[in-house]
Amino acid sequence: MNANDSDWLRRALRSRGFFEASFEDAAIHILNTCSVRDKPEHKVYSELGRIRLLAAQRGEKVTAAVGGCVAQQCGKEIMRRFPEVRLVFGSDGIAMAPEALCRIHDAPRLRLSLLDFCEEYAERPLDMGANAPPAAFVSIMQGCDNYCTYCIVPYVRGPQKSRAASAVLQECRELIARGTKEITLLGQNVNSYGQDDQGDGTGFVGLLHRVAELPGLARLRFVTPHPKDIAPEVVAAFADLPQLCPRLHLPLQSGSDRILKKMNRRYDLARYLDIVERLKKARPEIALSTDIIVGFPGETDEDFAQTMRAMREADFAASFSFVYSDRPGVKAALMPDKVERKTALARLAELQSWQNARMERFLKSRVGGQDAVLLESPSRKPSSQGATWQGRDSYGFALNVHTPDADYTGQLLTVKITSSGKHSLTGKIIEPF
Ligand code: 5AD
Ligand code: SF4
Repeated sequence: MNANDSDWLRRALRSRGFFEASFEDAAIHILNTCSVRDKPEHKVYSELGRIRLLAAQRGEKVTAAVGGCVAQQCGKEIMRRFPEVRLVFGSDGIAMAPEALCRIHDAPRLRLSLLDFCEEYAERPLDMGANAPPAAFVSIMQGCDNYCTYCIVPYVRGPQKSRAASAVLQECRELIARGTKEITLLGQNVNSYGQDDQGDGTGFVGLLHRVAELPGLARLRFVTPHPKDIAPEVVAAFADLPQLCPRLHLPLQSGSDRILKKMNRRYDLARYLDIVERLKKARPEIALSTDIIVGFPGETDEDFAQTMRAMREADFAASFSFVYSDRPGVKAALMPDKVERKTALARLAELQSWQNARMERFLKSRVGGQDAVLLESPSRKPSSQGATWQGRDSYGFALNVHTPDADYTGQLLTVKITSSGKHSLTGKIIEPF
């Protein structure tokens, strides 16, 4: 979500005459921040420290702007501690950030803060250039009402606000007209899209069908759904919509019902595994990935063992896993029985070592098979066998292909997979798709 917001801000600023400069030369430093865990938050402060040092070295004032969730959470405090920060904006304020940046650029003493939540989804001009990326993100909602007990998102991104389906479709059409072949619909909790009475009566599955039907769109994905809201129609979409890629990221968070309850996730493991089974029936080749938190307050060895069993049973091809960290104001921060960091780190290592091996096996199992690759850019590393291009397979995994020297941006080609690594695949072009 932040990457998507940053891309938009970059385009909006370019259209107002700004251009990107190196860290050393920049007149304005813009930090778009995440506060979902404590690590990314710490990064913000160390980056602001680097900017201060740069100002001292240059012997002149440097301006910084801080956006996103850390700004939403402690914008005023950031401005107090770091006088070089002259603009703070939250997730709803970003729509007004380009104009605010122009204003602070023109008025060196001006300081602005855009931290209010909007009641409706804050639309912003698309500011697209002539070309769009082969694979693009389109936001369909903002905020979240779920209040999982570990999560800061409802506090920093505000209540759920669905974007009007007409605006979503318009953005998709404009992207496709500029060359986009793959769209990922984005939201904190995509499958409750439309349940806040702010869309135009279209529910998530309705929206999914309408986007899938847009002429010229080859691939569709969505992230992130919540298991409690996976309706039978969402499962059916994987059977009915060929554009929908055979990959679903479905955060489990824990395999222990006791911990899921304390997390306020509102599903149990049996319900989760039932969804997995139905998804595999609807689309046998589907690959699942998930998010896991280890070391949630009160998590015992037995709770963690249940998480490991769940990982094997759901057979996740990939996962993102994190050690629980207290976030300010969330319920879990007040819970007793915090897990020792050493124990949590050992659990994380065990889980990740299982996952790494599983992912390697998943990628290996695909060698010899065929898939479509959407090529995005030349690979950074030139190979001895000539040019290589990188793209994504239908599962969203990185796939490199050897190509004759030409521009392959946005081409969707059939490849034979020839080898696999720890995180990526290599293939040979068979034919234009
Ligand atoms: N501590 C650790 N991980 C967290 N996540 C969210 N909040 C926390 C927290 N307080 C993880 C969840 C979520 C992902 C985006 O970040 O797994 O799905
Ligand atoms: Fe956070 Fe839960 Fe909302 Fe996801 S669903 S953003 S984890 S509160």
